[in-house]
Amino acid sequence: MPTLTHTVKTPRELYQIAKHLGTWDPADMSLEQDRADFNTLNSGEKEQITKICALFYEGEVSVADTLAWFMLAMPEQDRRMYLSTHVFEEVKHAEFFERYFKEVLGEMDTASYVVAESKNMLIDGLQERGEAMGRALINRNQEELDRALTLFAAHYMGIVEGVMAQTAYDYVGEMLTTVKMFPKLQEAIRLIRSDEGRHIIHGMDYLRKQIAEHPEHKAPVKELFLDNIKSMTLWTQWVFVPNPFGLNQDRMMTLGYNLHRQRMRDIGLIQ
Ligand SMILES: [Fe+2]
Ligand SMILES: [Fe+2]
Repeated sequence: MPTLTHTVKTPRELYQIAKHLGTWDPADMSLEQDRADFNTLNSGEKEQITKICALFYEGEVSVADTLAWFMLAMPEQDRRMYLSTHVFEEVKHAEFFERYFKEVLGEMDTASYVVAESKNMLIDGLQERGEAMGRALINRNQEELDRALTLFAAHYMGIVEGVMAQTAYDYVGEMLTTVKMFPKLQEAIRLIRSDEGRHIIHGMDYLRKQIAEHPEHKAPVKELFLDNIKSMTLWTQWVFVPNPFGLNQDRMMTLGYNLHRQRMRDIGLIQ
């Protein structure tokens, strides 16, 4: 699915759209066929699909938990309105995978599947960015708050959603269509990608505006993006071992590098 980052939508328009499109309910999905499909897999296939879903679940819980900091710290009312739908949608994405583990894959310690490189970028690093906004807010330090808002948006919407999640959802969505299994996982990924499109559009719009208003933020945002590209192989390679579904690591890396470049272009870091 092409990203819609070129489409200009105001936060208020995104809020109106989200009230209609972001209301699908994970609790309504019948997971019987997915459970039957999972039971036909061998142990290597089960391990690979479980690892992928563990990464999705842990990622969705992390973004759902940290986004409230951003909404609280956001000074613009229309963006706060929009962000209330963004928080709600992330909670629902996590809810889908919580159900999927309970009813299809089996309950397990999903955190133990996430390697250190992914955990740093996806969970601990994001938490620190959220706390930095909270500290600046409590200390009433406007300069620090502006910088913390920019870096949170760059990390969360730029890297975690705009590169990591989109690469993984695009690639896994494509792979599941070819294996013709797990119909509800496929449907959920399609709906999640549509929600994520709005999250990324808003995030890139906000980053462009912040960097235009605070040109001194450009260098730390660029550094964050360049640090991420260095570790991109490390945070993706663990889903390829074992690799019974025959996932193509090169193709996934190409998708990731292309999105990385696109996000840098979106916010004016490169031409
Ligand atoms: Fe999400
Ligand atoms: Fe998202």
